[in-house]
Amino acid sequence: MPNCIKIILTFAFLSLIANVKSDAKKESKKEKEKRLKAEALLRAQQEEAERLERERLYQEHLEKLEAKYQGERESELAELNSLEQKFLSAQQWKINYREQAKWEHYLSCDGTPDPTVPQEINTFMSLWRDDQDEDIQLVMEKEEVVLNLIEKLEFLLLEASPEEITDKQRDQYQEVILQLQDLLHQKYNDATQNLLKIASMYEDSETGNMHTVLKDENITFCIWVNLKKKARFKSHMFQEAGHGFELPKALALSSVAVRVLHTRYDHVSPLWVQCQGLPRQEASYSLELAEHPEDTGQGPGEEEEEGREEPSTPAAEETGSNGRKESAASLKENSNNTADTKETKEETEKNSDILDVPSQEEDALLQEEPGGREEAPKAVDLQQLVPVGGVFHISALQLPPQAQDVGDWSMVELLDAGLEVYPYSPGEAEDGTQEAVQITLRLPDNVIYFQAPVVARWDPAGQQWRTDGISNITYEAEEKSITFSMGAFYTVALLQDAHLNLPYQAWELHPAGVDEGLFTVTAVFATIQIQIK
Ligand SMILES: *[C@@H]1O[C@H](CO)[C@@H](O)[C@H](O)[C@H]1NC(C)=O
Ligand SMILES: *[C@@H]1O[C@H](CO)[C@@H](O)[C@H](O)[C@H]1NC(C)=O
Ligand SMILES: *[C@@H]1O[C@H](CO)[C@@H](O)[C@H](O)[C@H]1NC(C)=O
Repeated sequence: MPNCIKIILTFAFLSLIANVKSDAKKESKKEKEKRLKAEALLRAQQEEAERLERERLYQEHLEKLEAKYQGERESELAELNSLEQKFLSAQQWKINYREQAKWEHYLSCDGTPDPTVPQEINTFMSLWRDDQDEDIQLVMEKEEVVLNLIEKLEFLLLEASPEEITDKQRDQYQEVILQLQDLLHQKYNDATQNLLKIASMYEDSETGNMHTVLKDENITFCIWVNLKKKARFKSHMFQEAGHGFELPKALALSSVAVRVLHTRYDHVSPLWVQCQGLPRQEASYSLELAEHPEDTGQGPGEEEEEGREEPSTPAAEETGSNGRKESAASLKENSNNTADTKETKEETEKNSDILDVPSQEEDALLQEEPGGREEAPKAVDLQQLVPVGGVFHISALQLPPQAQDVGDWSMVELLDAGLEVYPYSPGEAEDGTQEAVQITLRLPDNVIYFQAPVVARWDPAGQQWRTDGISNITYEAEEKSITFSMGAFYTVALLQDAHLNLPYQAWELHPAGVDEGLFTVTAVFATIQIQIK
């Protein structure tokens, strides 16, 4: 073959190959497209299947959740129902219990009234009021009845839900409580007067004066009667009670009796303090501003003997939602402070500063008294400090005329007046210092004071405890006694910080058996264990 043909052939062949090649190329491109399409379709199908599966799973999950929720709801509902049942039966139990108590009271026929029935309680009070021949022992016996009546009413006030007693009943119960408290104190005054009339029959052979102590669980009655008026007997210690006093010279030479009447109950503070949980009465600062009782010349003890001016100013009157709101607010504040169990002491102090704020505001108000030369707050904030261990009524009393022996006869001048306060206003001693009464009190042994108690006197006009007028306080923790001086005779209480143990440091709840547990709260000074059954 000539070369040129060879070349042509070769060329043709090559071009043929090229042709075939390009055909093949075309072919594979198509196929690829097809394949890609198929793949895409497959993928789409797969994705769709996966989506459906996911949805199915999700649906399944939802259904499971739904079922679970339904189940929980049912069990919760059942629990709620059972709680409601329990609540109803508790209520029924309470009603039955009250009826049973009423019935038992009726059966016992012991002559004590039902304090919720106005006729009964009024009859009881007026019969007792008319009874003139009181002696201290008789009053002490009756006191137990009166305290139990008051307790019943306070319990009702605290425990009854708003639907169970009306506002009118609530007011009425509070009114009765105050009337009973007043009457009881009045009876102690009458009995004191009866005792003073015959004091000379019981004179002490050593001093020629008369003194005695009578006490029971709730009251300690101490009286000293200055029959001989000798300056060397100006002080006396009631050994059985641990209370004592030292009089200024002027008083030691007068016809005077000194009474220290300690009641474990507090019938002096506003009702909401006596019975924590009752709505709070608004303290009326305007009254305080208007009257500033320190300046009055007349014997300050006089007001003390009158006690509350009228039983018709009970805590009930001005109270309402306000008082409730306020205590609710302070509760919240407290619970904030208690919430953190690991607070250091400094933080504790910071917290008590926060709590102090409102009282400082109040005190700022009080200090605006005209001519107010006081720097420190004098009125006690009862949210901050609370009286513990009861109340000490310390009074100087006029001595009624004593019987004189004339031959075989005993003669006595009869006066119609009741118990009278000795009109004592502190004079100046020779050395220019104010003559003060010095009082020593033995602390009640049913009370623990974690710090030196604050000594405060009751200001009947301002209806508040005040710390002015009391000085030179010495606290003997070991001997459990406190000694202080005061310019006049006052009703005194020992107060302690209400938040002393707050915030608590830890708490624990231990199971102690079936349906039994031990709840332990560890606070700053005290550890409290409460058994729960
Ligand atoms: C003492 O007071 C309580 C409650 O205040 C009372 O239950 C108790 O009977 C009283 N006891 C006496 C002897 O008065
Ligand atoms: C009380 O706690 C709440 C929330 O726990 C907080 O918002 C509030 O500031 C706290 N108040 C005080 C007085 O600490
Ligand atoms: C304070 O009390 C002490 C004893 O308790 C007494 O010796 C002292 O004279 C008193 N001071 C004043 C100023 O009354």
